[in-house]
Amino acid sequence: MSASNIADYGIIGPGSIGLLWAVKLRAAHSVALWGRSGPVGLSLEFMQGETISESFTFEPRGQAPGTALVTTKAYDTVRALDGAIKRWRQPPRAIVLFQNGVGSQDEVQQRFDHIPLLAVSTTEGANRTADGALVHAGSGLTRLGPLNASGAAWAEKIGADFCAAGFDTRLETDIRIALWEKLLINAGINAFTVLLDCPNGALLGHSFFEDRLPPLCYELAVVSQASGYPATAEIIEARIRTVAEKTAGNISSMLQDVRSGRPTEIDVINGAVVRAGIALGIATPVNRMLADAVAARTR
Ligand SMILES: NC(=O)c1ccc[n+]([C@@H]2O[C@H](COP(=O)([O-])OP(=O)(O)OC[C@H]3O[C@@H](n4cnc5c(N)ncnc54)[C@H](OP(=O)(O)O)[C@@H]3O)[C@@H](O)[C@H]2O)c1
Repeated sequence: MSASNIADYGIIGPGSIGLLWAVKLRAAHSVALWGRSGPVGLSLEFMQGETISESFTFEPRGQAPGTALVTTKAYDTVRALDGAIKRWRQPPRAIVLFQNGVGSQDEVQQRFDHIPLLAVSTTEGANRTADGALVHAGSGLTRLGPLNASGAAWAEKIGADFCAAGFDTRLETDIRIALWEKLLINAGINAFTVLLDCPNGALLGHSFFEDRLPPLCYELAVVSQASGYPATAEIIEARIRTVAEKTAGNISSMLQDVRSGRPTEIDVINGAVVRAGIALGIATPVNRMLADAVAARTR
């Protein structure tokens, strides 16, 4: 901990992905955790071959961390950030958003554009077991980039810290392209796994999925092209099939949420495509069907 008692990194939303970053960053940095009602201390077992016990007990006493990593679900992001910032005497130097999908980043930017903002799109995988252990389910690529002009000054430093912590991190000049690229894949997998209640790989060859995938990819391509993120329907479909194959045994995060009775992030995935379609005058009936069906399943 620095003499000023300000943690280098503060994790707002210490769930699966937040704790993974907390555990890895702690080797070289002070890290504080912020839950729903303020700073939290907790013990957890970190399982990745070996088991390490970690405990976070730092009490920031109203001090913002140097950099806030917001690792809540998309639908909790603005409320969580608002709650944390109200308790802090000064804003953090920079905020990094980890949410999947698109939409929550704009909401944060509308409110906190005076603070340097960055976003991450990561294919690292983490989850918690029923007894609280953190499982690093898979390593991947973390793409990091600024959301506003002042965020650009922080990208290199934060990216270097992530790399040093063991995350394969790539700096992006337009992080929104990375967010869209991941959204396009999630849009073709997650909702289907909920409706068919199956692991990712079981989608391939299922008639419900196969009949709807080509028109879905056409909608995704038209909306993403019109939004300035070039992708053809063929490329999107090939990527979705490859990910479904490579993650065949995985239960998607959306299906895990539904099985646990939690809200899903459908609104920032297929729901975001529907909203973009409305704004652009493009019909998106397959995305709308998926968004409505998942919403009905979790209501
Ligand atoms: N897990 C992954 O492998 C992974 C990979 C890539 C991207 N992501 C993305 O990362 C984001 C987080 O995912 P996750 O799997 O880590 O979710 P998660 O395990 O549910 O963690 C979210 C955490 O946020 C906390 N939270 C909710 N409201 C809060 C508030 N107002 N103030 C402070 N904390 C609050 C939750 O607390 P409670 O437990 O009390 O609800 C929970 O600890 C999602 O957008 C997800 O799509 C996740």
